[in-house]
Amino acid sequence: MSATILGIESSCDDTAAAVIEDGYVLSGSVANQHVHMKYGGVVPELASRAHQQNIIPVVETALADAGKELKDISAVAFTRGPGLIGALLVGSSFAKGLSLALNIPIIDVNHLHAHILALFICRRGEKRPLPKFPFLCLLVSGGHTQLVIMKSHLELEIIGQTIDDAAGEAFDKCAKVMNLPYPGGPLIDKMAGEGNPYAFSFGKPVVKGLDFSFSGLKTSFLYLLRDRQLLDAAFLENNLNDLCASLQHSIVDILLSKLTHASANTGIKEIALAGGVSANSGLRDALLKLGRKHNWNVYFPEIQYSTDNAAMIAITGYYKFLKKQFAPLTITPVARFDQL
Ligand code: KG4
Ligand code: ZN
Repeated sequence: MSATILGIESSCDDTAAAVIEDGYVLSGSVANQHVHMKYGGVVPELASRAHQQNIIPVVETALADAGKELKDISAVAFTRGPGLIGALLVGSSFAKGLSLALNIPIIDVNHLHAHILALFICRRGEKRPLPKFPFLCLLVSGGHTQLVIMKSHLELEIIGQTIDDAAGEAFDKCAKVMNLPYPGGPLIDKMAGEGNPYAFSFGKPVVKGLDFSFSGLKTSFLYLLRDRQLLDAAFLENNLNDLCASLQHSIVDILLSKLTHASANTGIKEIALAGGVSANSGLRDALLKLGRKHNWNVYFPEIQYSTDNAAMIAITGYYKFLKKQFAPLTITPVARFDQL
């Protein structure tokens, strides 16, 4: 059975649509929201308004680029959560409207599940090694940090998660302290490439089992900056690259030490990264190195599918479509992961 899935993502500040046909990506269109830049973070009400303005042109572009029309779509997949409730409502209401108008099913997608299935996004004819089940995935995004065992495309088990901030939040909050614009992760990544990762050290969190903590690192970073700036007003300016490199090194170290434990505990050597922070070059390089040491097979999503995108929603929709896991029109979006 041929399946053409339109995916819609509107959980935060990007409005995105993509088309997946029989498991292969045909197109992807994104409207980024620059309106939040001057506020140093995403403003929920502004995000909802911008999603409303962007959703129709974004869907039209994704369909046109795929060479498809609305009548060709088999089902609409949309992000149900977690995310900003007003932003999620725009995508879910749009999907329901299309479903009613075209008489096709809707498929609700967990945004974090979709980040993991982004590992499987391929173009037709593309030959790329894909993770084999069961695999272990370190999911690192702006709002979540989890260790997940993927048993099949649709079965996941969370074996560890952050007890406070997410890894992406650690990047973004420390960037804010350094007066860098939001989101700070990509900028820190860039500047870290020019700095010394051993210039400064920060306390390592002590957290039981496979859980993570990043709030102590954030505080330790803040205090170091405050104390050094008292002695030298130009400290930040003169040490920006080293601060970024040292911070990135600490975050990567925390993430990879738990991942190593998880692999040892489970015996799984198929190891994957997913989520926005998986775009980080320091994390990718360090994981490749660690993988060689431990004989792991290591997998990353393509960079364009690491951060929020709609192809990951469409591919998750595709796997749910194959199992006929459709949602009723009464379904509502949810803001938090534990409500899904
Ligand atoms: O997965 P994502 O796009 O959105 C959420 O679901 O949260 O992740 C966004 C997060 C932000 O915190 C951003 O700073 C971080 O991913 N990020 C990065 C990089 N690219 C995006 N962090 C570090 N290095 C990067 N290259
Ligand atoms: Zn995301």
